[in-house]
Amino acid sequence: MEKIFVSGGNKLKGKVRIDSAKNSVLPIIASSILTSDTIIIKNAPMLNDVQVICELLKSLGCNISINKIKGEISIDSSKVQEIEPSGELVRRMRASFLVMGPMLARFGKFKISLPGGCNIGTRPIDLHLKGLKALGAEISTEGGVVEVRCNKLKGNKIYLDFPSVGATENIMMASTTAKGVTVLENAAEEPEIEDLANFLNKMGAKIYGAGTDTIIIEGVDRLKGVEYIPIFDRIEAGTFMIAAAITKSKITLENAREYYMKPLVAKLREMGVEITSIEDNVIEVNGNVQLKPVDIKTLPHPGFPTDMQSQIMALLATVKGTSVITETIFENRFMHVSELNRMGCKIKIEGRSAIIEGVEELSGCEVKATDLRAGAALIIAGLVAKGETIVDDIYHIDRGYVNIEEKFRNLGAKVYRREV
Ligand code: UD1
Repeated sequence: MEKIFVSGGNKLKGKVRIDSAKNSVLPIIASSILTSDTIIIKNAPMLNDVQVICELLKSLGCNISINKIKGEISIDSSKVQEIEPSGELVRRMRASFLVMGPMLARFGKFKISLPGGCNIGTRPIDLHLKGLKALGAEISTEGGVVEVRCNKLKGNKIYLDFPSVGATENIMMASTTAKGVTVLENAAEEPEIEDLANFLNKMGAKIYGAGTDTIIIEGVDRLKGVEYIPIFDRIEAGTFMIAAAITKSKITLENAREYYMKPLVAKLREMGVEITSIEDNVIEVNGNVQLKPVDIKTLPHPGFPTDMQSQIMALLATVKGTSVITETIFENRFMHVSELNRMGCKIKIEGRSAIIEGVEELSGCEVKATDLRAGAALIIAGLVAKGETIVDDIYHIDRGYVNIEEKFRNLGAKVYRREV
């Protein structure tokens, strides 16, 4: 079993190049099913979740080649068939469910097990299904398997009760080739939605307004093969910004744009962190300043991202004073609190809020990554903890960070992966 070992106490310096976004590349890979031409994804992040969705597409008959060195994925969906993917694969990742919209659009029927993913709440799929139903699909659920059927999907007006990222993507993908116009209101506004729409539009779709709360999709007859580079990973970029802040260091992020990170950048600036965009996609972060506590509430974009909640909690746990974080997106996303407390943090949970009393020193110990971003938070805490922090269950971290230990080492930290 592999674990990550972090020896605390080193400052960071230098540059880190941010990979493409996991949450963008997954729906992009899923939507390659919409065409029988070849899709080429460049600068693709070689993550475990990417591996899983590629395996899933292969199991449906896609021909996929992955060039890890060039970071290129080529997907030929011409031979894809309407088969039920293995439940084991689907349960490994919630984003597996993103193949439903494209498969339904292409074959008019599809069956898939209920999805899995990070253990951070119940994460139902009712909004995905409600949207597909509004496009004309008949839906039945039995024994943990969902079956969707339709003759030809037809555009409709859909209002999402909550701006779910996955539901917005599934509905957007499904309606690209539907008959007529779809108007999706209260849609999620995350940058990855805009990126997916840019990709689909390059394929020939007619999508307007992605990145706002109203998306209009005019159905087209067919989509074509394209090459595409997904947007940078704002969550990876944010993780390194926070690492600079906790270690009081100055680092440079390459391939990251402040524009897409406004909610995090605003909070870090409020705390005192100096963040400067020195070029269009180069950001300098200076954490060698006196930091102040802040209160945070996670919200759909453009609110503070839930995917940054655990990392900023690790930072606030070292900032003198009291901070409060309220989690409104997922009901069970405080599992990292007990692990951070094992390292000497003083965090109490009260309902959906965590009350954080900043402490002067953290101490390294053995801790468990309870989900993907929680794992990153433990590495961040380990960077300043006295002694050694050993992070277990790092398969969660590998779902969403490319070579995290190497990137930290290149910045001067002592972060190693070892087989034990
Ligand atoms: C995506 C991201 C994930 C991020 C999350 C919120 C990907 C691959 N994953 O996940 O990293 O943490 O957005 O920003 O892009 N909900 C329902 N019914 C539904 C769908 C969702 O009630 O049909 C609820 C969920 O339980 C959750 C909330 O809506 O409480 C947000 O979920 P959603 O935006 O759908 O997140 P994901 O797409 O799963």
